[in-house]
Amino acid sequence: MTSKARLLKGAHTVLACMRAERRPYLTDVADIRIEVRPEVFYDPVESVFFAERVPKLVGKKSFIEIGTGTGIVSLAVVRNGGELILATDINPFAVKNAEANFSKHQVRKQVLRGEGLEPVPRDIRVEVIFWNHPFHYVAVPPVSTVEQSVFDYRYTGLYKVFRDVRRHLLPGGEFLLGTSSLARINSIKKIARKYGYSNKLLTKRSVRFAHRPNTKGIDLRIYSFKPI
Ligand SMILES: C[S@@+](CC[C@H](N)C(=O)[O-])C[C@H]1O[C@@H](n2cnc3c(N)ncnc32)[C@H](O)[C@@H]1O
Repeated sequence: MTSKARLLKGAHTVLACMRAERRPYLTDVADIRIEVRPEVFYDPVESVFFAERVPKLVGKKSFIEIGTGTGIVSLAVVRNGGELILATDINPFAVKNAEANFSKHQVRKQVLRGEGLEPVPRDIRVEVIFWNHPFHYVAVPPVSTVEQSVFDYRYTGLYKVFRDVRRHLLPGGEFLLGTSSLARINSIKKIARKYGYSNKLLTKRSVRFAHRPNTKGIDLRIYSFKPI
């Protein structure tokens, strides 16, 4: 089996674990209790990494999260004093899940359903936009909502976000992309160049996913992209 096929097999294993959850459950991430509903992406390594790192990068700035899932990264940013403006997700189950978690933590912000930044009103601009995107480039469109959390068909989701992100950034603002060595990093940089962004690797951590504890060489990363 090629390494690429192995990585995709791993992604299917992650999805199978998520799909096996037939009922909502509660979990604590950095002392924030959230509900995780069926058909919504939550990974105890990946989601926790971004919930810990992104608030430090956002600080007190204004913030939009794309693909919020359970809403955990946005909640962590708010708890650290960041000014969440709104969040989006393509998955209707994620929208309801994040709304419920926001409401439980008295965060009265909207979660808009749609692709990337398309549902965001044109006049909204913030200092930081973040997306923990679906890492895997695939040549066949995902068939279920939860598959859209890990597979991005020909990176069309990423193209659309890079197309729109400039419109929603204040001068000096940045787009933070949560990604991984599982992603096609060179393709991502190429898309960013096409739309006129500089890129900088801000943080990188080697991780072991629960379903593949013996695997080496996988990391999670955050890149900063700024309009040139
Ligand atoms: C890797 S998950 C991250 C979820 C959550 N932010 C976290 O870290 O736990 C990616 C999220 O992006 C959403 N998504 C995928 N493609 C999208 C798109 N084109 N526009 C908006 N959301 C998208 C998925 O539904 C999923 O919730």
